Amino acid sequence: MDTKKLLKEAKEARKNAYAPFSSFAVGAALLTKDGKIYRGCNIESSVMSPSLCAERVALAKALSEGEKEFTAIAITGAPVGEDPKDPCYPCGVCRQVLSEHVDLSAFQVVTEENGKEVTCTLSELLPKAFVFEKN
Ligand code: THU
Repeated sequence: MDTKKLLKEAKEARKNAYAPFSSFAVGAALLTKDGKIYRGCNIESSVMSPSLCAERVALAKALSEGEKEFTAIAITGAPVGEDPKDPCYPCGVCRQVLSEHVDLSAFQVVTEENGKEVTCTLSELLPKAFVFEKN
């Protein structure tokens, strides 16, 4: 997996962030099993609750195009106008939503800390995940 390229895509996506309320711009790039990349950025709303995180925008784009298998997501975030220094991990809601579409222990979350790539699995970020089972 070319994580450098995935991070680059996330940085490109971040340029489209619509974050006039938090002034925090996030970009994400979601990689499918067959190598396609779906970008997402955060999109805020003045009434707050409809605001969307970059990760869920990327996932919704991919799912709505029929994609079903994902191997990694790169995320980058920082205040608008600044270059990201700190790692940007998915929020709790995005962790849960992603967990419903990926293999938790294999799916990689890639971000950067002071220009250095850091990677972990979604199961490290969401241990003991809620799993809905219909009977
Ligand atoms: N945000 C994301 O897009 N992804 C994350 O992983 C963390 C937070 C967005 C939501 C909101 O628009 C802004 O960043 C500040 O929380």
